[in-house]
Amino acid sequence: MITVGVIGASGFTGHELVKLLTTHKKVSLQVINSHTLKGKKISEIYPDFLGDDRYTDFTLEEINAKKLDLLFLALPHGYSAEIASRLNSSLKIIDLGAEFRFADIKKYEAVYHVKSPMKKNSAIYGLPELNKKKISHADIVANPGCYATACLLSVLPIQNFAKYIVFDCKSGWSGAGKESVYAKNPELLKENLIPYNLTHHRHKYEIEQFISPKISFTPHVINTFRGLLCTAHILLKKKIKKERLMKIYAQFYKDAPFVEISKEIPEITNVQKTNICKIGGFEIDENNQLVMVSVIDNLLKGASGQAVQNMNIMFGFNEDEGLL
Ligand SMILES: NC(=O)c1ccc[n+]([C@@H]2O[C@H](COP(=O)([O-])OP(=O)(O)OC[C@H]3O[C@@H](n4cnc5c(N)ncnc54)[C@H](OP(=O)(O)O)[C@@H]3O)[C@@H](O)[C@H]2O)c1
Repeated sequence: MITVGVIGASGFTGHELVKLLTTHKKVSLQVINSHTLKGKKISEIYPDFLGDDRYTDFTLEEINAKKLDLLFLALPHGYSAEIASRLNSSLKIIDLGAEFRFADIKKYEAVYHVKSPMKKNSAIYGLPELNKKKISHADIVANPGCYATACLLSVLPIQNFAKYIVFDCKSGWSGAGKESVYAKNPELLKENLIPYNLTHHRHKYEIEQFISPKISFTPHVINTFRGLLCTAHILLKKKIKKERLMKIYAQFYKDAPFVEISKEIPEITNVQKTNICKIGGFEIDENNQLVMVSVIDNLLKGASGQAVQNMNIMFGFNEDEGLL
């Protein structure tokens, strides 16, 4: 049994974490911090929560005194690095925000237009399908962005075959957090689909760290609470048969319990409320362009489910413990 805490517990990803951690058999959840809802019953804020637990608001000194094994940070970017610097060095961290995702701190500062308090970043990028071994020894894990998760998983096995990749993505509106314009004004999305940041979305630069071909990335918000779909248009360097591609994907993901490959085109409803990434399509057109589709639940495989998956790997539990 390990002891864990969540800071940012009342947000969309924080709430998913709390639900997963209160039912995880190997975890005792001792910190459920919300700096605005201290003392309130979680079920009053989120009726899908079944327990009697209440939000806490422990100081960092009180959290240090608890000698927890792991702390999840589910905060807007700009707070985690400073918080991490004030925590006991023995306390492991999984950060759901962006501050630890860039190996190059200058790049993070340029992409997010902020100054980082860190001199160097020793965090491991927490995409288990890419970094499982490193995650198992990590002290700080940078949980990937939701778009980055779906995009990377859809192309990692065949990135060396690609000349150029266009990721065209659609996300449920929970991707923008509980304070977003979509949460406050649901009318915006009624009968609508909203493109934004057509050329310089932050996740483009996160993805570029892990694949060599040049990429484009276009995000859209859709009228769904949770779920994210990525259509990857992959211009291939040379001819390759669909059957061979499918074998390459199956081999690459043979030890990945949460990635499912099929030739059918997946849909968002296939993965909502699961930690699964479904990848399919495998269609190649007359321009030698391969089109792949990947789908995830942005709040689970794109955030809190993946964070629990990382925790399981860090503490030697079954990778799928508490996630099925
Ligand atoms: N939503 C997604 O699909 C998704 C996916 C992947 C990654 N992420 C990342 O995960 C992080 C959390 O996202 P979210 O969607 O859960 O956001 P959210 O719904 O806006 O929740 C953010 C949480 O942070 C707390 N908070 C805000 N400012 C704070 C401060 N100054 N000090 C302490 N707590 C503060 C808020 O709660 P209180 O006011 O109650 O303390 C709230 O619980 C972000 O960095 C986001 O980019 C989100």
